Amino acid sequence: MWDGGVGVGGPMSLSFDSTVLLNHGIRMPVLGLGVFQTPPGRATLDAVLAAFDAGYRLIDTARIYGNEADVGEAIRASDLSRDEIFVTTKLWNTDHGYDEALRAFETSRRRMGLDHVDLYLIHWPVQGARLESWKALTRLLKEGRCRAIGVSNYMVHHLDELVGAADVVPAVNQIEVSPFLQPRAAIARSKDLGIQVEAYSPLTKARRLRDATLRAVAGHVGRSPAHVLLRWGLQKGFVVIPKSARPERIRENAAVFDFELSVEDMALLDGLDEGLHTGWNPEAAP
Ligand SMILES: NC(=O)c1ccc[n+]([C@@H]2O[C@H](COP(=O)([O-])OP(=O)(O)OC[C@H]3O[C@@H](n4cnc5c(N)ncnc54)[C@H](OP(=O)(O)O)[C@@H]3O)[C@@H](O)[C@H]2O)c1
Repeated sequence: MWDGGVGVGGPMSLSFDSTVLLNHGIRMPVLGLGVFQTPPGRATLDAVLAAFDAGYRLIDTARIYGNEADVGEAIRASDLSRDEIFVTTKLWNTDHGYDEALRAFETSRRRMGLDHVDLYLIHWPVQGARLESWKALTRLLKEGRCRAIGVSNYMVHHLDELVGAADVVPAVNQIEVSPFLQPRAAIARSKDLGIQVEAYSPLTKARRLRDATLRAVAGHVGRSPAHVLLRWGLQKGFVVIPKSARPERIRENAAVFDFELSVEDMALLDGLDEGLHTGWNPEAAP
C-alpha cells in the first residue's frame, strides 16, 4: 500500500529522478547504492562509477566501511557535478562526544576530498555520549558543512530522548527494513516527527531471496525477488539503499521504476515480517 513518500506523487510517478524533501530543506534521491562490505580500492571505485552510470545519485558509505576515500575518488572521476550527487557518511561508535564527533567528521570529509557532506548520520545510538555528538552534528549543519544530519539504528526510545533534548530534529533515520523486518513503532515515530526513514539491508543481505511468497509475487509481476523487495520499500515511502559490488547487479537493481506492486501484492509482502535482523538489533541498545 502506498503510504506517501514526501515529494513523490504516487507509485507510478517514481523514477530515478524521484526525491524526498527532507525536513532540513534539501532533496534526497529515493534509491541509492550502499557500499558496506564493498572492498576498498578498485572494487568501491568501480561499484560507485557503475552506479553513477546506471543513474544512481545517492551513495551510502561510513567511516567504518573503510572506503570513504574511494567514494570520493569516484565522485571526482565521474562526469557528474558535485551538486548532482548525494553522499552520506556516518559517525562511528568510537568517535562519540562533542569534540570527537567534530574531529571525526572533518577526518571523513577530508578523506573523501569533499567540501561538504550531504548527510552525516550517527551510525549507532551509543549510550552516554550520543546527545553530545548530536550537538556537534547540529553545529556542522548550522555551519553548512553538512546539508542534512540524521541518525541510524534509532528506535522509539532513542528518538524520544533526542527530540526531548535537542533543538534540531534529525532529517533521516536509517534503519534495517524489509518485508521480513518491519520495525513498525520506529517507522511510525520517525514519520510523526517528520523524519525520513531510510531502509538499509533492503535485500535482507540476500538471505530471503528464495522465500516462497516473495518468489510468488516476483513471478506474478515478472520481476526478480530483489526487484520486488526494493519496490516494496519504495512504495512504502522509504529511501532504499541496496548494496552490490557487482556492476551487473548494480544495473539490475536499478530496474525498479517501470513496474508496480498492487495493493494485494503489498499486503502479501507486509505479511512476511519475522523480525529478521541480518546485522545488529538496536531495540536492545539502552
Ligand atoms: N546504518 C547501518 O547500521 C547499516 C547496516 C547495514 C547496512 N547499511 C547500509 O545499507 C546498505 C545495504 O545493506 P547491506 O549491504 O547490509 O545488504 P543488502 O543490500 O540487503 O544486500 C546486499 C547483498 O545482496 C547481494 N545482492 C545484491 N543485489 C543482488 C541481486 N540482484 N540478486 C542477488 N543478490 C544480490 C550482494 O552481493 P554482491 O555484492 O555480491 O552483489 C550482497 O551480498 C549497506 O551497503 C550500507 O550502505 C547500514
